[in-house]
Amino acid sequence: MNCSTTEASHSLKHVAIIMDGNGRWAKMRSHQRVWGHVRGSGVVANIVEKADDLGIDALTMYAFSTENWCRPQSEVKVLFALLHKFLIKESLRLLKNNIRFKVMGDISNLPIQTKNLIAQLEVETEKHSGLKLTFAFGYGGRNEIVQATNNFIKNNPGKELTEDALQEYLLIPDLGDVDLLIRTGGDQRVSNFLLWQIAYAEFYFTQTKWPDFTVNEFEEIINKVSTRERRFGDVSTSINLENNIEKAKLNKGLMRG
Ligand code: FPP
Repeated sequence: MNCSTTEASHSLKHVAIIMDGNGRWAKMRSHQRVWGHVRGSGVVANIVEKADDLGIDALTMYAFSTENWCRPQSEVKVLFALLHKFLIKESLRLLKNNIRFKVMGDISNLPIQTKNLIAQLEVETEKHSGLKLTFAFGYGGRNEIVQATNNFIKNNPGKELTEDALQEYLLIPDLGDVDLLIRTGGDQRVSNFLLWQIAYAEFYFTQTKWPDFTVNEFEEIINKVSTRERRFGDVSTSINLENNIEKAKLNKGLMRG
């Protein structure tokens, strides 16, 4: 269902997910780790569809970190294959639902067929105005910041780097700040994901391992977090993101005179 025009009942524009716990899920069932990835990949499409239905603006999913390159070759190959399969299976649905699809990260080591599929889907969906779906693949947050800084310096010799300028040099600037970061699998860490974008994010850690994560739990988390008070360093009780950012900008201007 295309919900790009749906009025969302929450203020969460950008949701990011660390899909963790696949390996342990499989081990608990006496299967090989990769079986967890296979089952986990089946959950991805359901969550994408739910995010779209809920009127979320951007959904960024951590599918493969720079650190994941250290995993056994056989496991890395399965993750590549699952990404490829997802693109084949879901591309029609992404097109039909007006979803903008992008991959962020270094995908140079992916098989050429998968890179071609990604490139094709990115082009075909680039003008779409619905959910911004991004897979972080071969991605690392520190690397993104360093790259953004270097590119800024290259293009602006002698100029001072500002927060706004750095934002413009991120891999996908229009995703904006993360409002909610969900991590499945029970661990409570950030693992080098969207380090710049999570500055004011709400965090939600669930014990549920990714292959068991359901659309119902996803919706429950969205509803729960929507009731949290987000002050962005202010003292007011307003949870309106835009209001607070506008207010902060205004105050900053007043301070500068
Ligand atoms: C973490 O589980 C998960 C990953 C490293 C990869 C996430 C990938 C998928 C959900 C499948 C890929 C699908 C698509 C469509 C891109 P882990 O292996 O670290 O689990 P553990 O913490 O239990 O060991």
